[in-house]
Order: sequence, then C-alpha cells, then structure tokens
Amino acid sequence: MRLETNAGPPERIETPLMVVLVASDRLPPEPGPRPEAAPQAEPGMGLELAALDRLVGGALGRAVAAGDFRGRARDRVLGHRPAERGPERVLFIGVGSTKALTPEKLRVAAGKAVRAAEFRCLRSLALCVRFLDMEALGARGVQAAAEGLVLASWRFDELRSEGGADGEAAANGGAAMDGTARPPPVESAVVVAAPSDGLEEAVRLGHAFAAGENRARTLQARPGNIATPSHLADEARRIADEAGLEVEVLGPAEMKAEGMEALLAVSRGSDEEPRLIVLRHRGGEHGEAPLVLVGKGLTFDAGGISIKPAKGMEKMKYDMSGGAAVMGAMWAVGRLGLPANVIGVVPGSENLLSGSATKPGDVIGSRAGRSIEVINTDAEGRLILADALDYAVEWRPAAIVDCATLTGAAVVALGHHRSAVLGSDEGLVEELRAAGDAAAQPCWPLPMGPEYRKQLKSGVADLRNVGGRPAGTITAACFLSEFTGDIPWAHLDIAGTAYGSTKKPYLRNGPFGLPCRLLLEWVHARAFS
Ligand code: BES
Ligand code: MN
Ligand code: ZN
Repeated sequence: MRLETNAGPPERIETPLMVVLVASDRLPPEPGPRPEAAPQAEPGMGLELAALDRLVGGALGRAVAAGDFRGRARDRVLGHRPAERGPERVLFIGVGSTKALTPEKLRVAAGKAVRAAEFRCLRSLALCVRFLDMEALGARGVQAAAEGLVLASWRFDELRSEGGADGEAAANGGAAMDGTARPPPVESAVVVAAPSDGLEEAVRLGHAFAAGENRARTLQARPGNIATPSHLADEARRIADEAGLEVEVLGPAEMKAEGMEALLAVSRGSDEEPRLIVLRHRGGEHGEAPLVLVGKGLTFDAGGISIKPAKGMEKMKYDMSGGAAVMGAMWAVGRLGLPANVIGVVPGSENLLSGSATKPGDVIGSRAGRSIEVINTDAEGRLILADALDYAVEWRPAAIVDCATLTGAAVVALGHHRSAVLGSDEGLVEELRAAGDAAAQPCWPLPMGPEYRKQLKSGVADLRNVGGRPAGTITAACFLSEFTGDIPWAHLDIAGTAYGSTKKPYLRNGPFGLPCRLLLEWVHARAFS
C-alpha cells in the first residue's frame, strides 16, 4: 500500500472515503449544520470537526444530538458529500476517550478504516487523526495508524484463479457490500494529521515496519510445496536487492564444510536441500558489534520419523514463521537505513520422513562440537537453530535474538495472546518485552536455570534433544542456550502467536507476521540508544 501524509485541511482533500477518528470527549460542540452562526468552542475542541461535519450535511452533529454517536469504539456515522469538492464520503469512527487512547487503538481504528474502504470496493482512502489529541500520543500514535493501514491492506490471493471467489473470503472479512466476495485491494491511503515535526518520519517508520511484516505474512502463507528452503533463499536474494543488504546462502556442501551436522541431520529425510540464509545490513560504525536476528525457517514440519498426527498437520507450513519475521524485519531495516549493524540468519529445512531420515536414538554432531542424542525427531527446531546460533556467535554480536515456533508447550503455557521470552540476559529480555508492548505483540518471561538444564542429560551423548513433558518451552530454550556462548541472548517462542484466527481488524485469519514489528522496535530502540 502506498502511504502519503497531508497536513492540510481535511475538507479540501479529494478522496472517495475519509475516515475521521473521533474521541468521546471531543465531539463537535454544536449539533447539526450551522451555516451562519459559527459554533463557539475553544480552539481545537471540535471546531474544525464541526466544519468537516457541515460538509456532509451535519450527519455527525445530528447523530450526536440523538445520542447515536458518543465516540465509543463501536460508534459510526457515515455522511455523503452534497458538494462537488472534497471527500466523497466521510465516515466518523469513535475511538473512546482521549485519556484511554493507545497506539494499538489507532492501529485497530486504521484497520477498520481499510475494511470500510474494502467493503465499498474503493481502492483508496484517507484517515484523519487530526481531531485526536495526537500531542499526548506522539509519533507512536501516527506510526501505529500507518501500521494499521498497511497491515490491513495485506491479502494473499496469488494462488486463486480470477473466478475463484468463495465463502472463505467473506469469513475472512473480505466480502464487499455489493456481494463481491473478493473486492479489489486497497492500494493507497493518506494520513491526515495536524502539521508536526515528527509526522513524516512516524509514517515512514510505520509504513516500513508494516510492509516488512506483510512480506513475512506472504512467505508464511505460501504452502510447503512452494515455500521450500531454496524458495526462502531466493526470496532473501530479492529482499537483499530491494533493501540494499548483503546476502549469503549456504547449501549442503558449505554446511558440511562448516560442520553443521545438526542442521544436516534434520534435512536428511527430505529431497529438498537445506539452506542457511544470512542477510547483512551495515548501517552502524565499521567494526561495531552487530545485532543478530535468528529465525527458524522450517518450511514443513511433519515431525520426521516421530511423525505428527494428521489432524492439523497442514498448519506446519507455518513452522518457518520465525524465519519469515526475520526476513521481513531485515527488509525494513535495510529500507529504513537504520544506523546499526544488523544480521539476519535463517536456517531453512524441511522435517520429513524417508529411508535416510534421522531416527530416534541416533546420535548426531553439531557445529559447536557437541554430540546430541535425538530422542524425538519432532524436536527439530532446536537442532537447526543450534547450528545457526553457533555460527552467529563467531561474529561476537552485541546481542542475539532468535524467534521460533519451537514448542507446543508455549501454547499450553501462554495460549495465543503472548509469546514466551527467555534468555541469558535479563536486560535484553526486558527490552524485548518493551518492544513487544510497543508493537502490540506482547511476550512474557519464563525462567531458565540449571535445574531445568538437567532434564537434557543423555546417557550416551553430550545432551539429548528433549527434556520430557514438564516445562517443555524452558528445556527447549535451555537446549538453545548451549549454543549461544557468552553472547547476550534471548529467545522468543512464537508457537502460539505467529498465526491463527483473529478479530483484530488490521489482521486476517492465517499468518500474522509476528514478531517482525517487535524485532524492528527493538532494533530501532537499540540503534537510537
Ligand atoms: N514446530 C513444532 C512446535 C509447534 C507446535 C509449533 C504446535 C506450533 C504449534 C516443533 O518442531 C515441535 O514439534 N515441537 C515438539 C517438541 C517435543 C517433541 C519435545 C512439541 O512441542 O511437541
Ligand atoms: Mn517439530
Ligand atoms: Zn517444528
């Protein structure tokens, strides 16, 4: 989606739809059209809003007078322009009270605005936030509004034929008022806000963060027969091209030379070759320690010989969600030219079964030289991450953050509302929590410690790849921590949060692209600290 900003008077903007956000404590002071006597109000308290309302015949004022519009989150009034100029339609949407306003409420409202355009088969809209107290919300509010617009515009139609409309589009918030099951995509939006210093930069950030996340969602949505490890590598090359990054891709031969035996052991049961993707952004000082983002790129997880049950197995195409988020984040980091050295690493593999697959009980090696007893071939994510983390440690990063759909236990512990965060550095864990809150992709800490590490003891090797049922998310993180050396490291388990069903108007059921924006908030905060 293309985004512009406009700090001019909203009633002059030519658009098929202007969505105006209205706080419950900033309703227009006088109901109805007042062509002669201008309403007496304090400056900024609804005066301009009344002017805009007059343009559509006072629809808002009358709804307010009737008690139908009180500025609550579900309140809406639609007015049509009687004149020839300005917005063709104005849709007033309530956002609740000023003091309870948050960036997430703006993201949600922006999502509703795009859905309103979609519903009317419109390809563009304007979102007006200038009657809100944006001073209190600051640049974060504008950024969130931009994010909501761009995120809501995402869709995944590349595998449907022209006539292939169906009921699923309707179930997914896609149907239009004229019965069109798949309305045309909303392609552009204008953010209408009062002039302020940070306006352009906030929209630039919001746009890049959300566009990066949309890229991640598209990769997630692609099924396993398309989004193979080599497909991820091709996509990484495109991302590098578009965003001015360096890219390096390791295949089986290079992995063998590197001693990445754990990653190779996972891919052994598959005809698709593994890939290890490295995307590099050099935005910081020469020689400055990089921030490293690592994402699990398991493009289909059948479980291997420890095969998963058939029910719901199709969802395991999403087992590359962490890798997709890292690739989307790297795209945005490059496009924004953030002043930091950032490296994205994505180990890509399938986890299938064949005569050459790794078996339960097998003992494998790893790049770090540690031997691993594979008790369960379905605990493969930690194996491919082990080699990727060990590879990253050699760059002596300032911090490593990995994200992975790693354990079903994370879904049991936190459900679908929060990712789990664990790590070797409490300060880093706190930074990620703050970044998650800013992005509305919250995460919650779980403990680690030697008492959990004990569950990974093996009778035959240095460690085993599962720690039993108790504390599955923690023992998985303990396994990873064996490969992060002395580098400050944190891990996000996104098994319950990376995809699913949602009522958030700026998302759709399916892939969420999470934690792409969380990672970007964190990198941005680090870059400017
Ligand atoms: N990719 C799965 C984890 C997962 C489960 C993601 C559910 C999303 C939803 C991972 O590779 C896996 O299979 N983990 C096992 C580990 C177990 C064998 C120790 C699990 O969680 O069951
Ligand atoms: Mn698995
Ligand atoms: Zn997996």
